[in-house]
Amino acid sequence: MWSRRQYLTLALGAAASGCASPAGVGAPSLDSLARAKGMRFGAAVGRRDLDDARYCDVVRRECGVVVAENDHKWPVIHPAPGVYDFAPGDRLVAFAERTGIRTRGHNLLWQHPRWLAPWVTAYDFGANPRASAEALLREHIATICQHYGTRISSWDVINESIDEQTGVLRETVLTRAMGPEVLDFCFHVAREAAPHAQLVYNDYMGWEAGSANHRAGVLRLLHDFKTRGAPVDALGLQSHIGANRGTPQGSFNPPQEREWRAFLDEVTGMGFDLLITEFDVNDRTITGDIPQRDRAVADYARRYLDITLSYTRVKEVLTWGVVNPKSWLQRFTPREDGLPLRPLPFDENYEPTPLHAAIAEAFEGAPVR
Ligand code: G3I
Repeated sequence: MWSRRQYLTLALGAAASGCASPAGVGAPSLDSLARAKGMRFGAAVGRRDLDDARYCDVVRRECGVVVAENDHKWPVIHPAPGVYDFAPGDRLVAFAERTGIRTRGHNLLWQHPRWLAPWVTAYDFGANPRASAEALLREHIATICQHYGTRISSWDVINESIDEQTGVLRETVLTRAMGPEVLDFCFHVAREAAPHAQLVYNDYMGWEAGSANHRAGVLRLLHDFKTRGAPVDALGLQSHIGANRGTPQGSFNPPQEREWRAFLDEVTGMGFDLLITEFDVNDRTITGDIPQRDRAVADYARRYLDITLSYTRVKEVLTWGVVNPKSWLQRFTPREDGLPLRPLPFDENYEPTPLHAAIAEAFEGAPVR
């Protein structure tokens, strides 16, 4: 934890940079700590969160960037051919602008058969499927990017197109219609329609042993983007760390720190920027009382952040949500004991958890970029 001197130094720095007021008296916000090192901190915001005054207060105080958890996704924003519904997504962007913070966009295409809009999966691409798919994607991406213009500073152009088990490009109706170059096409259209924006390939390859094929597949994809001249600026590290399907009770997934550094070395060696886009720590398998679980989450997060933030190409860190009860993980991977998970930096009372302190300390220990 910080000394009083450190707190005051950081709090004064926060005030000087015009950042949001601190989480508590004297405690600088996560975003002010991030900005002191040339980064920004932020979080995903769901549609209902904007009606939650306490959630909005935490975002205003702690964040310098937000992302829509769901309201910029194809099924929401383009629910039928030629039909666009910008209202939900506009609400978040307007909130961010009133608050004086950035918005990043997630996502223009989730290149995964399960998450395409149903009408796209059922779409008749006709006699010339390539031309038909290009027209559909061009309209989708250009319409959304032109609607938001410079109000959105960064786009996840493609999300999760590499199969985590095989490392191979996922098949969808779009790859069947126009081949693997569908990804490059989307980035070129996005560059034309949003020349100001950071264009990101976003995926959940991780630092655990089970992610080796996923990491290798993403490296191949990034290398191919580079070789073909696709306008990809950065890799989004979703960073859903902790337990996953096969993790034994009482532990997290054991990290492969050397392999993770080698992965980040190769990505940055190709010239890509990095951002942490969806950070949370799955404590489904962690036993003990709340203080013990929170300590384990904070320590595991700190190890991940100390390595990842040592790369000065990481410029933004976003958590996937703010308060534990609203995390997607509560439904996705419930605990065997039925207790809620504790994956985020604020608890059910909207109070900072030890994970909040771990993120703060990781920012404080990170190099300036
Ligand atoms: O809004 C409808 C509601 O009207 C309807 O009654 C209800 C019926 O189930 O569904 C609601 O939509 C749900 C939506 O979340 C909003 O709550 C969708 O069914 C549900 O599939 C959707 O889940 C989201 C999931 O992505 C799929 O889009 C999660 O909230 C969201 O946290 C999760 O986020 C993803 C990132 O986009 C990509 N990386 C992984 C991450 C976690 O899966």
